[in-house]
Amino acid sequence: MSHKERVAWDERFRAGDHAGADADPFLKQIQEYADLFPPRRRAGGPRALDLACGAGRNAVYLAGQGWDVTACDISLEGLRKAQELARQRGVRLKLFCQDLKTVALPAGYFDLIICFFFLQRELFPQIKAALRPHGLLVYKTYTADQLPFRGRPRHPLHLLQPQELLEAFRGFRVLCYQEIMKDRGVAQLIAQKL
Ligand SMILES: C[S@@+](CC[C@H](N)C(=O)[O-])C[C@H]1O[C@@H](n2cnc3c(N)ncnc32)[C@H](O)[C@@H]1O
Repeated sequence: MSHKERVAWDERFRAGDHAGADADPFLKQIQEYADLFPPRRRAGGPRALDLACGAGRNAVYLAGQGWDVTACDISLEGLRKAQELARQRGVRLKLFCQDLKTVALPAGYFDLIICFFFLQRELFPQIKAALRPHGLLVYKTYTADQLPFRGRPRHPLHLLQPQELLEAFRGFRVLCYQEIMKDRGVAQLIAQKL
């Protein structure tokens, strides 16, 4: 990512042009699979990673549910908002300012990885490797069905093709997958690493 893009994201967060404080409703569906969560470790909860966390709505929700949450984003302004939301909600987050184009995720470390409204296909192998066996992935982002609707994104690099998430995470146990075309085009996946 260029410096220009980073600055553009910072400006969007400064202008308040971002999602609100409530977690994405799809994330809350992981409660349906709570029996798959690993038992609590002695120090802290099971480990979750929020990729491109933005202003922190999903990371803060998970922390409130007892997860030990690491969250990263390229935008310092987004992370500042995430920090403030965590403070308001009385939870702690491990926040990292990180360009995901150059990240090196630890292998076999996270019990849950979430990624909402961010697509960088080169990251898929690292996501797979960073999950522990039986770990869960929750992914939701725009598809090419977004194009007839107004608003961002428009570039194919940022839009999933039909079934693409299923293909990308073939070998995972698919717990929930939908492609939705109401007001916007999105795909959403909950899958377990086997
Ligand atoms: C549409 S927002 C989604 C934020 C959050 N996941 C949510 O759903 O509320 C996309 C996020 O991706 C971040 N981002 C864009 N490019 C990035 C990169 N190369 N590395 C890390 N974060 C990036 C932006 O700063 C922004 O916070």
